[in-house]
Amino acid sequence: MKRIIYLILTAGILLTSCNSGTKPANKSNEKESSMSITKKPFGKVDGKEVYLFTLKNKNGMIVKITNYGGIVTSILTPDRNGRFDDVVLGYDNLDGYLKDTPYFGALVGRYANRIANGKFTIDGKEYSLAINNGPNSLHGGIKGFDKVVWDAEQFETGNGAGVKLHYLSKDGEEGYPGNLDIYVTYTLTNDNELKIDYSATGDKPTPVNLTHHSYFNLAGTTGRDILGQKLFIDADKYTVVDKNLIPTGELRDVTGTPMDFRKPETVGNRIDEVEGGYDHNYVLNNNGKLTKIAELYDTVTGRVLDVFTTEPGIQFYSGNFLDGSITGKKGIVYRKHFGLCLEAQHFPDSPNHPEFPNTILRPGEKYTQTTIYKFGTK
Ligand code: GLA
Repeated sequence: MKRIIYLILTAGILLTSCNSGTKPANKSNEKESSMSITKKPFGKVDGKEVYLFTLKNKNGMIVKITNYGGIVTSILTPDRNGRFDDVVLGYDNLDGYLKDTPYFGALVGRYANRIANGKFTIDGKEYSLAINNGPNSLHGGIKGFDKVVWDAEQFETGNGAGVKLHYLSKDGEEGYPGNLDIYVTYTLTNDNELKIDYSATGDKPTPVNLTHHSYFNLAGTTGRDILGQKLFIDADKYTVVDKNLIPTGELRDVTGTPMDFRKPETVGNRIDEVEGGYDHNYVLNNNGKLTKIAELYDTVTGRVLDVFTTEPGIQFYSGNFLDGSITGKKGIVYRKHFGLCLEAQHFPDSPNHPEFPNTILRPGEKYTQTTIYKFGTK
């Protein structure tokens, strides 16, 4: 009898310890698996299906991406009290993006920013691009990479979830030479980073300059503009531009000017001293290494955005052309300075400035760039 009681007790203890051993493990597995990706139909463009991918990491941060234009439509991130809000501008549905968008959240190419008069020469041959911005070609022309449907594949890694996009830009598209095969991978990591890895290869020498064009507003959807947010940019110089925003070739020292953001400065403090507002390419001090080159901080919500890139430049654009004519997500009217862009890139009009870092990709070479937008609070 004693033996039976002993056996029952031992079995009981074993069972309890097994249970207590598996429960926490299950819990932590649940936590890990709270990272997720969903894919939903978002519409049709050029006869092709367009999807909306929702990436969620284990901290609850959400990034929504569509394969139309590789557009990031939403980034939901917490403030210092844990309240989530959407910190990028955009539309609630695909139609908004199809009708009119100043590149909200888009992937931009084949050449981000401006090429003067849409003309450049490679190996003695002159090329003419589609003109869409005064006399210039802007952000890849009339139908740039922001307006095409990309192939998309979702994936999960140990530390994140993402979408891999692919687009084949045909020889002559928007006037650019050669077929260009482009891959862009967006990954939302469990460290609250949106990581963007770009690569491209072509079969003729061609200019390549890819970027991401989110309009950030760390105040979220509270209706505040970006003028009160603090910005740091690790750049001693910027490229001086003419009235059409084409670089003159001069790299000017920021010291003692409203362009100096080497110490965090409130965006609106000196903006009136900059004609038209900020829309300038900064010459970064990163030596091509993936390092932190910018920080945006909203003192009210505590949200912080750190930007890391391998690129030599960043276009700081303070949403000067927003004029209240666009009503975006949640019915919010996007007035002037309602969002700002930090577009990691090579310098504008580089194909016409041999003194700038090279942007010509030749057959057999591979274009790569990595940019990380990392969200946090303080
Ligand atoms: C970039 C340009 C701006 C403007 C926006 C889109 O940031 O530098 O001048 O064209 O894109 O509106």
